[in-house]
Amino acid sequence: MSGRGSRVTRRPERIDPVTIVMGIETSCDETGVGFVRDGELLGDALASSIDEHVRFGGVVPEIAARAHVHAITPTMEEARERAGIEWHQVGAVAVTAGPGLVTALHVGVAAAKASALALGVPLYGVHHLAGHAAADTLVHGPLPERSICLIVSGGHTSLLLVEDLVRTPIVHLSDTLDDAAGEAFDKVARLIGLPYPGGPSIDRAAVDGDRAAVRFPRPLTGQRDPELGFSFSGLKTAVARYVAKPDPGVTTADIAASFQEAVADTLTRKAVRACQLHDVTTLVMVGGVAANSRIRALAQERCDAAGIELRVPPPRLCTDNGAMIAAIGDLLVRDGATPSPLDLAARSTVELRLAQLAG
Ligand code: KG4
Ligand code: ZN
Repeated sequence: MSGRGSRVTRRPERIDPVTIVMGIETSCDETGVGFVRDGELLGDALASSIDEHVRFGGVVPEIAARAHVHAITPTMEEARERAGIEWHQVGAVAVTAGPGLVTALHVGVAAAKASALALGVPLYGVHHLAGHAAADTLVHGPLPERSICLIVSGGHTSLLLVEDLVRTPIVHLSDTLDDAAGEAFDKVARLIGLPYPGGPSIDRAAVDGDRAAVRFPRPLTGQRDPELGFSFSGLKTAVARYVAKPDPGVTTADIAASFQEAVADTLTRKAVRACQLHDVTTLVMVGGVAANSRIRALAQERCDAAGIELRVPPPRLCTDNGAMIAAIGDLLVRDGATPSPLDLAARSTVELRLAQLAG
């Protein structure tokens, strides 16, 4: 592995374009399995334990881990059937090794190790967020030489400068100072009485609301603020204050739409600015929050106006899934990456710098 700033070097003779890669994702509450060959998604399956967490208002790690144990084998079988392949055709296994809930990660990592060992194929531990970015390549093809990637999920909100996703160390232009955008959606939903997970609830409720009803703050958009900086906990507090003393006639749908607008405005404004500052003409938007209808629409509008190509995967590939892990695994395999060792560890926190988590 190379040092910071330098590219990973590979041995070209290892490239095998026909390898089928199985991807396994268990970092949070979705058990995802997908099969990818040469950039093409052959089939995938997803089991979710969301229903079991609703009454707690958030993901309970022990419940998620137990649900993964129950779901992992049937989900692997279902994905394989959908892909129309036999087990002996699988040539590599990729798995989310971090970041995420460590008890949940362990289930996927153990399943991946067992599969790799049983099938006699290499194992690749990958970074969950690199998987999110790779999801887009399944629908829009390889990334250009340089792109800005806005990753917006339940745990992360980052602007990244991406060159070769599996070779060049990823540059973090900014990471949220406090809450992630998805976390803000989840907390605000709870404040206004909408069910977990908050993102989809707010997205649905906002359809009937007026996004100009309440002018919530646009965090870190002042003259002296860091141009690309993110912070969402103040916005959440602003909603809490408003909810305690709302204006007459303003509905839950209005508050949902107004909050969603504040997040959409802030995220898209900064993402476009990042492209302009770094002279990049492609914006890739990924992660669960990129499934949001208003964020997608506003991002499209602003990218069109700025002459930037916007790439966003369809909503089902924005939220956690196994196809995205197979996608990043496929890119690593085709690039001739060295497999991860069978004692690969699950890591709850790890910064995204390289797509592969080697040990
Ligand atoms: O990427 P993801 O599935 O899991 C993590 O890696 O965190 O993202 C989950 C987050 C949750 O906070 C969820 O509320 C949010 O994505 N989310 C949405 C939407 N769908 C999921 N946020 C806004 N609008 C949506 N439609
Ligand atoms: Zn995710």
